Amino acid sequence: MIVCVCNAIREGDVRAAARNGASCPTSAYRARGCKPRCGQCFSFAREIIAQERGAA
Ligand code: FES
Repeated sequence: MIVCVCNAIREGDVRAAARNGASCPTSAYRARGCKPRCGQCFSFAREIIAQERGAA
């Protein structure tokens, strides 16, 4: 599933970034060489990051 339409970032990409230490959408996107744009995806991305960090 695509999380961030602006950057074509998938749920798996966000999960991987969170496992590698990204604690917010901005750092997760930066790990992929992208920057947040419209911000529409933030709440979903935050939720995924929280789940992944909670499971760690
Ligand atoms: S959908 Fe992620 S910045 Fe626009």
